Parts: sequence; C-alpha cells; structure tokens
Amino acid sequence: MNRILIEFAHPAIQKSRINRQLINVAKEMDHVTVNDLYENYPDFFIDVKREQHLLLNHDIIIWHHPFYWYSAPALLIEWMDLVLEHGWAYGDKGLMLDGKSVLSVITTGGRKEVYSKEGRNHYTINEFLVPFKQSANLCRMEYLPPFVVHGAHTIHNDEISTFAENYKKVLLMLRNGEFNQKMRQAAYFNDLIE
Ligand SMILES: Cc1cc2nc3c(=O)[nH]c(=O)nc-3n(C[C@H](O)[C@H](O)[C@H](O)COP(=O)(O)O)c2cc1C
Repeated sequence: MNRILIEFAHPAIQKSRINRQLINVAKEMDHVTVNDLYENYPDFFIDVKREQHLLLNHDIIIWHHPFYWYSAPALLIEWMDLVLEHGWAYGDKGLMLDGKSVLSVITTGGRKEVYSKEGRNHYTINEFLVPFKQSANLCRMEYLPPFVVHGAHTIHNDEISTFAENYKKVLLMLRNGEFNQKMRQAAYFNDLIE
C-alpha cells in the first residue's frame, strides 16, 4: 500500500467552503498523512528537517491548495523553496525523492470553461500547472494528473459533498496503486473516477 502525504496550504481555512470539506475526508483515512502547513507554520518558519523526514516516509505527495494568482498560496511556495534543497531533492547528488509520485489537488474560483485558449484565462489548468510539473520532474518524481474543483464560488453544497467523496476515491486509488499508464495521460484525475 502506498503512503500518501498531503501538503495542505490554505491561509484562511475558517472561511473555506470547499477545501475544508475535502481535507476533512482525507484526515479520516488510513495511510494518509495531512500536513497542514499554515497550522504548523503560521510564522512561516518551516522546519526543513521535519519536512524532509516526512517526505522520505511517504510514496505519494499531494500539493493541496486553493489556486491563488494562478499558483499556490505563499507558504507552499516557501515550502518548495526551502524543503526541496539542491543536493537533496535535485542536482547530481539530490536523489532523495527519486521515484515518488506527486499531484496537485486544487480548487479554483474560475469555472472550467475559463481555463481554455478561448476562455478568459487563455490557458488550460495543466498549462498553469507546468511549474509544479517541472519541479516534480526536476526532483525525479512523476507528476500525475491534477484533481480539480472549478467554480468554487458558485457550486452548491451537495456538489461539494460529491467532490469530497470523489477526493476520497482518488486517495483510495492512489493508496492502492490502482492507476496505470493510460490513466497518466488524462487531463484531470477527476476524469478517471467519474
Ligand atoms: C488571493 C487570492 C487569489 C486567487 N487567485 C485565483 C486565481 O488565480 N484563479 C482562480 O480561479 N481563483 C483564484 N482565487 C479564488 C480561490 O481559488 C477560491 O477562493 C478558492 O479556491 C475557494 O476555496 P475555499 O472555499 O476552500 O476557500 C483567488 C482567491 C484569493 C483569495
């Protein structure tokens, strides 16, 4: 069974509609560790050794966050800056994450149709996620398709529950290693479970 580590970054969880429900589902699951970055490091002083130790003890890493400025909240970027050290995570001698898998789980205010060439944001969500994908690849990790909740401000409460159930299915598939080469080509992890 794969061990999953969720690097969760939401700076205002008390105001969250979507991510709070998603992360609560994950917290109930065996073989899933939720590392709440804003809870652990409200002053942004990240314990790099603790974080690297956590990474070493898991097989699959999830960067779970609301989409902010077409990227991630600041603390997750700080985490990447500090934890993914040269000579540890990447570089000739940086082999510690070799062979692990990583994916993004994100919620966006924008609806799915605005994330297209013709749409208001002009690029697809996977195009926006290229820095995450290439960072993973630089660290010799495989970047899996993202699980995305679009239209965060307009979706109804019962739809949020469905997304939370689907997130649980994603975690079960990952934990049980139930994904194959064909699934890796999907644009969204959502497409593999619905
Ligand atoms: C500072 C900030 C930046 C944001 N940037 C984006 C963005 O670039 N694209 C987008 O679709 N939504 C953006 N949003 C909307 C958030 O993604 C949305 O509020 C969040 O996914 C809702 O999840 P929650 O209910 O768990 O808070 C932004 C929101 C904030 C507060």
